Amino acid sequence: MIQEYEAEYEPDATRRDADDAESSRASRGWWDRNADEYQTDHGAFLGDDRFVWGPEGLDEADAALLGPVQSLKGLDVLEIGAGAAQCSRWLAAQGARPVALDLSHRQLQHALRIDGGAVPLVEADAGALPFADGSFDLACSAYGAVPFVSDPVRVFREVRRVLRPGGRWVFSVTHPIRWAFPDEPGPEGLSVAASYFDRTPYVEQDEAGQAVYVEHHRTLGDRVRDVVAGGFRLVDLVEPEWPAWNTQEWGGWSPLRGNLIPGTAIFVCERD
Ligand SMILES: C[S@@+](CC[C@H](N)C(=O)[O-])C[C@H]1O[C@@H](n2cnc3c(N)ncnc32)[C@H](O)[C@@H]1O
Repeated sequence: MIQEYEAEYEPDATRRDADDAESSRASRGWWDRNADEYQTDHGAFLGDDRFVWGPEGLDEADAALLGPVQSLKGLDVLEIGAGAAQCSRWLAAQGARPVALDLSHRQLQHALRIDGGAVPLVEADAGALPFADGSFDLACSAYGAVPFVSDPVRVFREVRRVLRPGGRWVFSVTHPIRWAFPDEPGPEGLSVAASYFDRTPYVEQDEAGQAVYVEHHRTLGDRVRDVVAGGFRLVDLVEPEWPAWNTQEWGGWSPLRGNLIPGTAIFVCERD
């Protein structure tokens, strides 16, 4: 979920500002270039039609953060940053009507490869959703878009706009505390190495100084304030514990670190 592949050249990793336009451009390029490897590496863990909230493996079938599973039938659901639309496929199997949106053409091609177009796909930026007001009952995102945009409030306002009154918006991101630690699965990932309070984006750039990968950090307090500024009420904040059955590493997420510090934060929000 966080960057873990190498470009053909060695990108220069730095901390500097990156606005929404540069962040979107970098994300589209990075995910287009790396979608094949991402799906090869993580497709089996994600499952073709499973709804997993993060590397801990918390499954929506058990967590029911979108509401009771039996209540999903007939609901219009927008999945943002859907990748290969695994979560949307699970929603469709529960009788919901999902739409899977992603910025990356190549990620969406993997959705087509898996289900031949059974789930409707939309290629668009989360900051400008191409839907009419009040089109959906629910919106969800498992590590999609939110960690990669410089202005998450813009995304949340868009999500609020396309939701019907009372609609839920549930999204997962890297737990903010991880920003302070090196992104390493082993013991070297257990010592604080940076300030949790430093919001300067993590940027990898090419030789011309163009961003090729961007990730934006918000503290936990920032995320709560962003949710409220976006017009939502925070209903729950879930920090999944690392389960004993999960022995798999995913980038900097590992059983070692997962047993000591949270790796994922899931925000359960509702609009009026
Ligand atoms: C870590 S993947 C998560 C995908 C899927 N939920 C999963 O767990 O595999 C992040 C996804 O967010 C998408 N994304 C990044 N920025 C976006 C944006 N601004 N708008 C829409 N999608 C975006 C990427 O293209 C990528 O497919």
